Amino acid sequence: MNFIGYLNLIYKKQYLYQLTIDKKSCKNNVYPFNLPIIKQFTKLDFHPNVTFIIGENGSGKSTLLEALAIKLGFNPEGGTKFINFSTYKSHSELYKYLKIHKHHEHPENHFFLRAESFYNVATEIDNVFATHNYGGKSLHHQSHGESFFSLMTHRFGENGLYILDEPEAALSPSRQIAMLVIMKKLIKENCQFIIATHSPILLSYPDALIYEIDKFGNMNKINYEETDTYMITKDFINNYHKIQNKLQLF
Ligand SMILES: Nc1ncnc2c1ncn2[C@@H]1O[C@H](COP(=O)(O)OP(=O)(O)OP(=O)(O)O)[C@@H](O)[C@H]1O
Ligand SMILES: [Mg+2]
Repeated sequence: MNFIGYLNLIYKKQYLYQLTIDKKSCKNNVYPFNLPIIKQFTKLDFHPNVTFIIGENGSGKSTLLEALAIKLGFNPEGGTKFINFSTYKSHSELYKYLKIHKHHEHPENHFFLRAESFYNVATEIDNVFATHNYGGKSLHHQSHGESFFSLMTHRFGENGLYILDEPEAALSPSRQIAMLVIMKKLIKENCQFIIATHSPILLSYPDALIYEIDKFGNMNKINYEETDTYMITKDFINNYHKIQNKLQLF
């Protein structure tokens, strides 16, 4: 356990400390074990508040988050641990090889959000008459962003563990900024977030650890302003006329 881990044992309940993979028994040349991120993986130390996992499309963020969530008892398609349904089984076997160093107490609240299957989770919430836990209005009767906001404001609570895969997919830039404020409130209430994102807004949350997956599959700890997400967005917005010209978009 690292120094932050010890401090948090005293001051804050941290649910997840560390993730390792038992690679000795992995089958090397099939998905997901053939992905560079899995081949290079040694360990991942979680931050007590927010751990971001970022990297190019296809670098393996969802594969890793999905395996972590399944290992923790979540439904592969997302939701709470009490939501159990399956529309399409595509999850990898990676979860069988994970070792998680975690707190002996379980979080009081939890949610695994996958942007791509949130629609199916919303259907299941209606099917099991659990809408009252999500603000009382069917998530299907709200826009994508509104329903995700309802989820955060009504279902995310204190002492919680939240695993979110691209939560920004539903949210306008101003709602992403509002999400930072909700995260801050929940973190003060002893919550921990693990987030895969492409959003330069969400990634700006201070007091967080950012792991960027490089093209070789290494997960490098990196500062916000050194990330591709930040630098490419900043460069594009500051120079979009030049970039439009370079790309011959006119
Ligand atoms: N069920 C599957 N079977 C085989 N290969 C898969 C499967 N799911 C994903 N992959 C491959 O694994 C790689 C990593 O996929 P993953 O979805 O984890 O990437 P990601 O980092 O989450 O990307 P994105 O930013 O686009 O969400 C991709 O190259 C993908 O084609
Ligand atoms: Mg993904």
